[in-house]
Amino acid sequence: CKLVVLLSGSGSNLQAFIDACKNKQLPNTEICAVISNKADAFGLVRAQQAGITTACIDHKQFGSREDFDAALQAKIDEFDADLVVLAGFMRILTPGFVRHYLGRLINIHPSLLPKYPGLHTHQRAIDAGDKEAGATVHFVTEELDGGPPIIQAKIPIFDGDDAATLADRVLSKEHTIYPLAAQWFAEGRLSLRNSKAVLDDKNL
Ligand code: GRF
Repeated sequence: CKLVVLLSGSGSNLQAFIDACKNKQLPNTEICAVISNKADAFGLVRAQQAGITTACIDHKQFGSREDFDAALQAKIDEFDADLVVLAGFMRILTPGFVRHYLGRLINIHPSLLPKYPGLHTHQRAIDAGDKEAGATVHFVTEELDGGPPIIQAKIPIFDGDDAATLADRVLSKEHTIYPLAAQWFAEGRLSLRNSKAVLDDKNL
């Protein structure tokens, strides 16, 4: 299974994928390329240290989202990706791009979707007085953070939590569930059918 990972920042989720490939949790899986829209993303350093091909496509060099996404798509398709993994990729993707990869484009979002799509999820959960928070891996559809969920991890919110402590604890759960979702995909057990995520012929 050939993965291409898109990111904009630290790349701790990318690191979880690199580690999962190394320790054979992801058998027959190769991270073919890591592509960032930001030249200074630490995720690019992580990729280079692991010997993975990197590319940077700066969205500021393009006049429209469509032009940026077309360049991004052309670059991804050079690698013949089976699965495109959004790992902290901070760009909203155009409908044409999403359609091109439908069923082979996944994202991780740091909330218990459908709660809190968009930004500042941890602060919003704390402000709402929620007792739990978490992360969701989902197939990407045209609706922002609205695609069919694949797996969620939940953690309790403690009294003393702020957005930073909560983000840390959620992130460490992300590192478990995201490679697991990719493992299911690589094993041919996970697909998008009739707008639902399906694992082993069961709707998730
Ligand atoms: C994570 O919180 C993820 O849920 C969100 O972006 C962040 C990426 O973190 N989509 P990292 O770059 O993988 O460390």
